[in-house]
Amino acid sequence: MTTEMDSKTQADLITSASGGIGYELVKLFARDRYNLVLVARSGEKLNQVAAELKGTFGVAVKTIVLDLTAAPAAKFLFDQFAARRSGSGCSGEQRRVW
Ligand SMILES: NC(=O)c1ccc[n+]([C@@H]2O[C@H](COP(=O)([O-])OP(=O)(O)OC[C@H]3O[C@@H](n4cnc5c(N)ncnc54)[C@H](OP(=O)(O)O)[C@@H]3O)[C@@H](O)[C@H]2O)c1
Repeated sequence: MTTEMDSKTQADLITSASGGIGYELVKLFARDRYNLVLVARSGEKLNQVAAELKGTFGVAVKTIVLDLTAAPAAKFLFDQFAARRSGSGCSGEQRRVW
C-alpha cells in the first residue's frame, strides 16, 4: 500500500537521488520504510525512481526538480524542508537530510 505524502508526513530528504550513490541510498531507506523527498534535475528520472520505490516498498515519495548548482537552490530546499518540519511538530531527529 502506498502512503500519501502531505505536509505532516515524516520524510527524509535525499539529494542526487536518481543516480549513483544517491539512488543506492534511496533504495536502502525505502526498504527500511522511510518516506522520502528526492531531489535531482531530471524530473523524468526522479518520477521513475519514485514509482519504483512506491511500488516496491509502499513508501510515500515526493520529488523536487532542482539544479543544486543554481544560486537559490539550497535556500529553496531548506525553506521547503523547514516548512514541512514546522508543519508536523516533529523533532529534528525525525527528519534528516542526505
Ligand atoms: N568519497 C568517495 O569515495 C566517493 C566515491 C564516489 C563518489 N563520490 C562523490 O559522491 C558524489 C555522488 O557521486 P555519484 O557517482 O554517486 O553520482 P553523480 O553522477 O555525481 O550524481 C548523480 C545524481 O546526482 C544528480 N545531480 C547531478 N548534478 C546535479 C545538480 N546540479 N543538481 C541536482 N542534482 C544533480 C543526478 O540527477 P540529474 O542528472 O537528473 O540531476 C543523479 O541523481 C559526487 O560528488 C562524487 O564525487 C565520492
